Amino acid sequence: MKVLGIFGSPRRGGNTDILLEETLKGAEKEGAEVDRIYLPDYAITPCKECHGCDQTGQCVILDDMQKIYPKLLESDIIVLASPIFFYGVTAWAKALIDRSQALWAKKYLLKDPSLGKEGRKRKGFFISVGATKGQKVFEGAILTVKYFFDTFNAEYAGELLFRGVDGKGDILKNPEVLQQSFEAGRRLVLEWIHNPS
Ligand SMILES: Cc1cc2nc3c(=O)[nH]c(=O)nc-3n(C[C@H](O)[C@H](O)[C@H](O)COP(=O)(O)O)c2cc1C
Repeated sequence: MKVLGIFGSPRRGGNTDILLEETLKGAEKEGAEVDRIYLPDYAITPCKECHGCDQTGQCVILDDMQKIYPKLLESDIIVLASPIFFYGVTAWAKALIDRSQALWAKKYLLKDPSLGKEGRKRKGFFISVGATKGQKVFEGAILTVKYFFDTFNAEYAGELLFRGVDGKGDILKNPEVLQQSFEAGRRLVLEWIHNPS
């Protein structure tokens, strides 16, 4: 089974990178084939709302997002990591999410059976951190991510969310996070093996 990790922070080696990498190591430990996408390495133009995908389910913008569509569809589990930027995901992650409009069109406008009820089911997992401790700090991002996952039939399978984390690597001040992330990755794969969607 295949796991795709999407690193959505522009700060390489930062807090969400640390959590996602550990989660992916846990998945690898249980035998998953893991692919990693570092979004800052990809040039993804924001959606132009041209509706070029409405008739075909294919985005007409020929940039690096074209490399990501097949990866999303080949994966069984997609783990997206993004810190909170202004109560949402980063612009890097949001560009990718908005470009999944092509998958939305394929699913809801064209009713492509591969994304329908009988189509392949996937699971999605969200990792995030925010500097503040506000109750609602993750709410906007979670809604966005759930709607993103839905475009490729990924059920929202869980999350790792940490408040009050700001400086690069500050997440490591919590001694339990690495183990928690590793176990989350293991659990995702084990649950998949025992209960494939
Ligand atoms: C542009 C920008 C906007 C941010 N907006 C928020 C915010 O709305 N709420 C919050 O709690 N933290 C906010 N933060 C803080 C980051 O979420 C925090 O520094 C986080 O640890 C960065 O994670 P990373 O190391 O994975 O990039 C913001 C940081 C930046 C650079």
